[in-house]
Amino acid sequence: MKQTFHSFIDRFAQTANDIWLKGWAEANAGNISLRLDDSLLPPKNSRRSSKWQPTGPPAQSGRRAGREFPQIAGDCFLISAAGSFLKNFKLSPDENLGVIQIDSEGSNYRVLWGFARNGAPTSELLTHLYIHSVRKKISNGKDKAVIHAHCPALSALTFILPLDDARLTKLLWQMHAECILAFPEGVGFIPWQMPGSSALAEKTAEKLKNFHAVLWQFHGIIAAGPDLDKTLGLIETIEKTCEIYIKAISAGRIKNKLSKKQLLKIADHFRLKPNQKILSQIK
Ligand code: 13P
Ligand code: ZN
Repeated sequence: MKQTFHSFIDRFAQTANDIWLKGWAEANAGNISLRLDDSLLPPKNSRRSSKWQPTGPPAQSGRRAGREFPQIAGDCFLISAAGSFLKNFKLSPDENLGVIQIDSEGSNYRVLWGFARNGAPTSELLTHLYIHSVRKKISNGKDKAVIHAHCPALSALTFILPLDDARLTKLLWQMHAECILAFPEGVGFIPWQMPGSSALAEKTAEKLKNFHAVLWQFHGIIAAGPDLDKTLGLIETIEKTCEIYIKAISAGRIKNKLSKKQLLKIADHFRLKPNQKILSQIK
């Protein structure tokens, strides 16, 4: 079936609803964005054109500071609104979502559709734009979706263990055989940063050069991928593995986990190239 802007909005809202049903989007938690192909832009007669605004977060003065994203200059994104509840996307898409276009320099954006009743893009806009910029280049344009969710098991993990990229990846790879397949490069970790801040956006973008997903300490996860299903699927795999870990430690001491030999066997079978730096740390 040929996709139209409106069928695509339904799909987007369905993903948001799925995230809410899992309990990963309390109140306004979580945000989603998707780089749109030209064929998926809103019909011309439903478009408007707001004034251009800088892409950066509000500084002390309250005004946004522009950042430059030449990789995504001219691109359009469907993105959730600041303060919107994911469960409401289905109900009133034009209030909870919007389509923005980045200008030819990559430093301003304007609204083409949505954000009715004075809405604005998510407070994590800068992070989304940084990620799209980095992933578009690295994936040769393949990666188009970014999802952020407040997954409880992953959040809990950040309270009970000292973590970094390697510790987190090893734990996940060794607790569920799907993991090395789903993310052979590993998963990144960022110590707590203020939500919506430039520091969080910049650190996340740096990690997304090497990973598709990053865990934010005491907060949640953000991931990028070619489409909504694959990106959410990656988050589901990571969160489920974390649940397995927490169930296992709640039931007693962990006595068995996937060995390096078994992980290498999986990698060999599926012709994967797992992150060697992390793999070499597994005994
Ligand atoms: P927004 O409502 O601005 O998208 O913020 C939700 C969130 O999860 C911030 O990290
Ligand atoms: Zn959040």
